[in-house]
Amino acid sequence: MKETELNKIYEECKNCTACPLHQSRTNVVFGKGNPDAKILFIGEAPGQHEDEMGLPFVGASGKLLDKYLDAVDLSLDDVYIANILKCRPPNNRDPKEDEEQACIGFLRQQLEIIRPKIIVCLGRIAAYKIIKPDFKITQDHGKWFKKSDYLMTAVYHPSALLRDPRKRDDMMADFIAIKDKLAELLK
Ligand code: URA
Repeated sequence: MKETELNKIYEECKNCTACPLHQSRTNVVFGKGNPDAKILFIGEAPGQHEDEMGLPFVGASGKLLDKYLDAVDLSLDDVYIANILKCRPPNNRDPKEDEEQACIGFLRQQLEIIRPKIIVCLGRIAAYKIIKPDFKITQDHGKWFKKSDYLMTAVYHPSALLRDPRKRDDMMADFIAIKDKLAELLK
C-alpha cells in the first residue's frame, strides 16, 4: 500500500542527518494529502509554522493555497503536497544547492510511490529544480511541460501573492487550467 511505503520513507527522513539543517529543525516536514492523488504539489521548504507542526503549507501561504484548491473544488483527498527540502532553512532563506542535493532523494521516492499524473511546482525555486534551470516564473507559470511520465506546470508561490495581490487573477486562471487538465487526463 502506498501509505505504508510512504511511512517507511518518512521514518528514514525523521532520522536524516545528511545536511546541517537537521541541527536546527523541530520536525521534518515530509508531506500531506492522499498518497493516491493524481496531483502532486511541490513547494520549496518548510517555514516556521511547518517546522513547528511537521506539516507542509500550514502557515499563511498554506491558508491561501487552500483557498485556491477550494475554488476549483479540490481538497487534500485529491492532492498530495510536499517540499523540495524537508527541513526548515534558518530565517526562511532560499535552499542551498547542497541541501537540495542531500534532500531530493526523499522527493524522488515520494514521486515514485505516488505516481501522480500532474506535478505542480509552487514558485520559482521548485520550478527551476523540477522543471528546468532557466524557468522564469513570471513568463512560464501555467505552461505545461512533459517530463518522463509526468505533465508538469508551475504556479506562483502563494507567498508571492501575499506580497503582490495583482498576481491573484493569474493564479486563479492557472488553477482552473490544472483542474481542466486533470479532467482531460482522467477521461
Ligand atoms: N512554503 C513552502 O514552500 N513550503 C511550505 O511548506 C510552506 C511555505
